[in-house]
Amino acid sequence: MPIRRSKVLVKWIYENQHKIQAVRYCSSLLRYKELEESPQIEPEAVTAPQTTPRPQITPEFSFKYDDLQVRLAAPYQLQPKPEANELGFGKYFTDHMLKINYFKELGGWQKPEIIPFENLSIHPAAKALHYAIQLFEGLKAYRGVDDKIRLFRPDLNMQRMNLAAQRSGLPMFDGEELIKCLVRLIQIDQEWVPHSESSTLYLRPTLIGTEPTFGVMEPDSAMLFAILSPVSAYYKTRSDGAVSIYADPNVVRAFPGGVGNKKVGSNYGPTIAVTSRAAKLGHQQVLWLFGPDKELTEVGAMNIFIVYINEQGDKQLSTPPLNGLILPGVTRRSILELASQWEDLTVKEEVITMERLIELNSKGRLLEMFGAGTAVVVTPISNVGYLEENIPIPTMKQSQPVFQRLKDTLLAIQYGHIDHPYAKIIS
Ligand SMILES: Cc1ncc(COP(=O)(O)O)c(C=O)c1O
Repeated sequence: MPIRRSKVLVKWIYENQHKIQAVRYCSSLLRYKELEESPQIEPEAVTAPQTTPRPQITPEFSFKYDDLQVRLAAPYQLQPKPEANELGFGKYFTDHMLKINYFKELGGWQKPEIIPFENLSIHPAAKALHYAIQLFEGLKAYRGVDDKIRLFRPDLNMQRMNLAAQRSGLPMFDGEELIKCLVRLIQIDQEWVPHSESSTLYLRPTLIGTEPTFGVMEPDSAMLFAILSPVSAYYKTRSDGAVSIYADPNVVRAFPGGVGNKKVGSNYGPTIAVTSRAAKLGHQQVLWLFGPDKELTEVGAMNIFIVYINEQGDKQLSTPPLNGLILPGVTRRSILELASQWEDLTVKEEVITMERLIELNSKGRLLEMFGAGTAVVVTPISNVGYLEENIPIPTMKQSQPVFQRLKDTLLAIQYGHIDHPYAKIIS
């Protein structure tokens, strides 16, 4: 093959590498490293097309998708993809990441960049490392039955991110612009979105305060980055397919006026000790209680729901109200909205205390208990460990459980079995 034609071919392969599975396994044969050094085919930064007029916002308010710069990974930087059964949760990462710097003295948000996945280099005095001035999000990209990739209500994750940023003195931004940048990142790494309905691509946008000074104050520099990880099941379950949860009334996850309703890292680190204790006692998750009445708030990193027969004899789905202690879950909200349309179920946000739970259970009126969140969708609960006792919950004994109907409905939307406005097709 004449040299010029072969260079054109190699350049084409380079630019389309994310679509070509075979390239991952033969990159060394094609000697990409050598070719990359050749000036004729050196990869250019690809700028996102300027299709829409730039919104009238100052850089201090937000970065813009139209400024996005893309630098693709060279083929030798691409990672082999693990088998679906080895995925676990957040063990593997895709080939690219999104990075957006914020420097107050340079006018605020800088240009977003998609770059090959790399370690971060940050000053050891960065505020995020000392005072947990940071926040994160978790959402997923699903490959549907029609091979199209969907996101699930990403606008709600953006709202939640901005609320956490505001509380932490981190810069806010236009959520729509971040969604567009994330969509482009997923499109570039689209072969990492598993071809399976038991796994997905988890998106982890994170915002950290990078200013390298010890003062506990609003950072004047920050970094927003997003990494992607193909994932499968989050929690291990018992043999009945449900989890056992452990409630220790002496430990709280959140408190009034605190940040229980924000997705900030400082809510998660302090849960490790009690989670490990729960595991040693044979439970998979912690049920977070609050206050003298031992109100149920959340379970692990999920919102909590119960189904019971109410005073009128109707089947009722209940979850605690958003009182500042509870993360406003995207799954929680979707469940409440979907189930409110079902005529055979009463849906209510109400305080649920341990006493009430035990009473309903002892009278045979408690039917189900489950947790809900992006990572797991819906996880049934069949046992609560509380004050040296094990309280069996009959969730797995129901013939047509509500948790299963909700899970099936959510999965059907996420994987495109049904068209629904919650699902945003991106590719
Ligand atoms: C503490 C906590 N509660 C609830 C949830 C569920 O929220 P979502 O449905 O938005 O994933 C999460 C996960 O983000 C969480 O970390």
